[in-house]
Formats: sequence, C-alpha cells, structure tokens
Amino acid sequence: MTGRPAASLEKEIHLHGGDPAHTQRRLGLEPHPVVDFSVNINPLGPAPGVLQGWPDWSRDIESYPTVTGKPVAQFYQQYWGLEPNAALPGNGSVALMYHVLGTLRLRKLAIVTPSFHDYTRAAHAVETRTISLPLSAEVQFAPPSPARLAAALEDADGLMLGHPNNPTGTLYERAMLLELAQRHADKWVLVDEAFIQFVEDYRAKTLLTAQPLPANLLVFHSLTKYYALPGLRLGAVIGHPETIDMLRRQQEPWPVSRIAERAAQTLLEAQAYEAETQRWIASERQRLMPHLRRIARLRFFRPTANFILGQWCATRDLDDLLRGLLRGGLHVRDCRNFAGLERNYFRFALRSKTENDRLLAAMRKLAGTYHV
Ligand SMILES: Cc1ncc(COP(=O)(O)O)c(C=O)c1O
Repeated sequence: MTGRPAASLEKEIHLHGGDPAHTQRRLGLEPHPVVDFSVNINPLGPAPGVLQGWPDWSRDIESYPTVTGKPVAQFYQQYWGLEPNAALPGNGSVALMYHVLGTLRLRKLAIVTPSFHDYTRAAHAVETRTISLPLSAEVQFAPPSPARLAAALEDADGLMLGHPNNPTGTLYERAMLLELAQRHADKWVLVDEAFIQFVEDYRAKTLLTAQPLPANLLVFHSLTKYYALPGLRLGAVIGHPETIDMLRRQQEPWPVSRIAERAAQTLLEAQAYEAETQRWIASERQRLMPHLRRIARLRFFRPTANFILGQWCATRDLDDLLRGLLRGGLHVRDCRNFAGLERNYFRFALRSKTENDRLLAAMRKLAGTYHV
C-alpha cells in the first residue's frame, strides 16, 4: 500500500463553500468566527420536526436502518406524488451522482457549465470524458437553446445540468427538458434539482411532478439545502421505476442512516416552515436586488433560488473583496474555481435581514474604497 500525504489528498478534493478558515489561512488572516454566506442553506435553520424529534432518536443508533432507506423513499412518494419505486434514497444527492455515473459508466458526458464541480469529478472518477456546454455572462447565463442542447447530446451519451444551476441560477422550461429526453431516448439526461424548492412556483417548474419520467431521465434531489440538514446527508434520485430498480440493484445496502430515515418521516409535517421559507427567500431576493444593482463596480445576476452570483469589478483581484469582508466577519463563496467564473465572480446565500444588510453595506463600502 502506498501512503499518501494528507495535504495532497486534500488538494484533490475540490474546494466547496463552507470553509472560511481556508480563505482566512490563504489570505494570512487570523482565524475568527464569521457569518458564512458561502453555503446555500435555508436561513430559517433545520426543519422544526427534526430538531424536536432529535433527542428521542439517540437509541436508534443501536439498530440498522432499513436495507433500502424505505422511509425516505416513502417520504418522496407522498410529498411529490411519485409512482411507487420512483425514488432511490442516498446519503445526500452528491452520493447519488457518484452512484449513477459509476453505474452508467458513460463514454462521454456533456455538462452545462459553470456548475457544481462534482458533476465533472464523479464522471472522471469512472473515466467518463466530459465536454463543457458553457453558459455566457453576456446573456446573463441564459439556458442554451434546445438546438444547442440537442447537438451536445448527439455528440455524447448523456447531458448533465443544474436546475436551477448553481451558481448562475439558470432555469429551464420543463417541457423542453422532457421533450429533449423523449427525443433522445438512447441518451441520458441527468438533472440536478438540489435547489428547486427555493424557486418561486417550483411545483410548476420541477421535473419531479412529471410522472412517470422518461426512462432515460434522472433527477437528483437534496433534502439538505431546503431543510437545512447538510450534516445529516439526505437526498434521492428520482426516475422511471425500471431505471430506479436497475440503480437499486447496484446500490450498497443501508444507503441512509437510521437517523436520516427518522428525519425524513418528520418532513411531511413541515408545511408552515416551508411556506415561511418560500415567502422569505422570494421577498429577500426582491428587496436586495435593486440595492445590489446600485453598487457601482459590482455586477449582480438575476437570482432564481436562495443564492446570488456577483462579479467584483472594483479591482483586478477578488481577494480585495474577500479580505475586506472577512475582516468585517463576513464570508462569501469565491467562485474563481468554477470554469468560466475565473474573472472575480463570487456567490452568496440569502440569510437573515440583518445579516444580508450587513453584507450589502460592507460590499458597498469596499467597492467605494477601491474607487480611484
Ligand atoms: C448544485 C448542487 N447539487 C448538489 C449538491 C449536493 O447536495 P447534498 O449532497 O447535500 O444533497 C450541492 C452541494 O453543495 C450543490 O451545490
């Protein structure tokens, strides 16, 4: 066995949001607590039923969960009105991306970029070649035309995209995505809907309610963002029951923990929390955008979910913004490691009004400071 130093292993793992200490170290700042806008999690905190149930679940660790994560699949079936056996649970949607791509072992996958890095990483882990279908800032990261998507599919065995896309917020016409999958029945269409419930009127936009889904279309869904449970790891991939059956045969037993099963069972009772989440995110998006657009030398793109993509134009180096914000106890996501966003793009999640206003004021001040 060859030992590998931990540092080099760490480098191989793509840097995600949620690690302010990393940016502090890189910029030579003392580590100190910050308000972290770099993770896109529901600002209301974990769904109340999970917090209430938690103390009673401690003895559950003595038992195995169900072999297939059945309570999680049942939650999906009821919540979304799915066909029986249309949802395969997993330890977070990202685990299912690795499982699906590992099972399909495509020769070539087209990926709409800039997007969540693990689409590419999961493909490369099984030697699937990837080609990029880039969105353009010039057109506000609008979705590629159906003809472009179709052409990309012709040249590959599958297409993967975020709906809405992280970090650009790009949304698609659901009828167009369904038609694309139907027209290319011999190709895979893989759609990540991790953030779909932060989108206004999401039931009309999601593919999850288009049942049964075409056999070649899979939708990744996360319970960690909308219900603020990232530490728990919980999600599912939804598809045609026959496709899900094929994926289940290749999945390990006990794909989610007993605690995650318990948590999923409480989520059907979270209506008030969900209504407040949707109201809050929509109203903060609307309240903040005019203020953000008035800041000179900062550019912002129209958000559709619970995060906003910006571009720092006050200096040539985004570090000037990141350092200034960190000194004021605020951390945003450096997006320069997304292909296509190298030129000083950053992203922040919507949080409480006080916190959002603090960030707004700090950005305004920094953009003014660097004005020459
Ligand atoms: C676009 C996108 N999809 C999926 C995930 C994975 O979410 P989880 O594995 O927590 O369900 C993330 C996490 O940041 C993400 O940004």
